Amino acid sequence: MNDPLIRPAPEHLEDRPNATAARLLLGGPVVLVTSMWRGRANVMPLAWHMPVSTDPPMIAIAVEQSRHTNEVIRHSQEFVLNFPTRPLLHHVQYLGALHGDRVDKIEAAQLETFAPIKVTAPLLSSCAAWIECSVVEAIPLGDHTLYVGLVNAVQVDPATFDDGWVVGPEETRALHFLGGNRYSFLSRIVEARMPQHADAPERILAEFLAEELEMTRDAREKREERLDVLKREIEDGRALDVTGLELEVSPEHLLDLGRGHVIGEPPRG
Ligand SMILES: Cc1cc2nc3c(=O)[nH]c(=O)nc-3n(C[C@H](O)[C@H](O)[C@H](O)COP(=O)(O)O)c2cc1C
Repeated sequence: MNDPLIRPAPEHLEDRPNATAARLLLGGPVVLVTSMWRGRANVMPLAWHMPVSTDPPMIAIAVEQSRHTNEVIRHSQEFVLNFPTRPLLHHVQYLGALHGDRVDKIEAAQLETFAPIKVTAPLLSSCAAWIECSVVEAIPLGDHTLYVGLVNAVQVDPATFDDGWVVGPEETRALHFLGGNRYSFLSRIVEARMPQHADAPERILAEFLAEELEMTRDAREKREERLDVLKREIEDGRALDVTGLELEVSPEHLLDLGRGHVIGEPPRG
């Protein structure tokens, strides 16, 4: 029964349509793609992007064939990725509802632009970083075209990005798209410990495990501490004795009077 191939999947898992694969991969910074052909610039939000080569630096974007941007990039063979920050949240969503063949979106949204270094498409102000690309390959895949872009120039605002994304003041943070009209931004950075070259992997893993156990013990102790406080509050008459209520909620759950919601182990099965 310990063979991972015959072990049944845990019961709490749910099946989802295959299209969910794309949404599971969301969460990276959303970009506004600017492109330009015959003196007319366009902009569209895009979440499907990825790095594809470090030497030379290349990235890829998936643009649906129905998009006006697809036409523009097909002709101009270049594009720019602009990384919008928190103040552009509503603009990003709105720009995704308009088609550049019918309306000049940059003008309509009164987006300020500045000059590119290597391409012709404009760069958008109020963004945190910019990547200028020329197309080296266009691969039609289903209803999208994957444009592979050679990176020609990169600029960043150091308030948002030093050698990685920074968690600075809210208005400087990049927007991350979660699907629908939901976005997020980074709120905390946690750093993993780097193993030393001489460290034996068995010892390191044993240490990590011990640390995890310590953290679990810590959490348990904190919970017990909170329950002790609650017990004392009841004894001193500053809180209601909720023994009866506890039973009504569920045998494994307790009422947290402090916050008015149920605490305890999540229900199983
Ligand atoms: C947050 C967000 C992310 C999007 N990501 C993509 C994407 O990765 N690829 C794509 O083809 N369309 C994407 N879209 C949809 C296009 O931005 C939208 O259809 C836009 O109106 C196209 O503009 P255009 O016709 O002027 O090129 C996205 C929309 C939003 C709001």
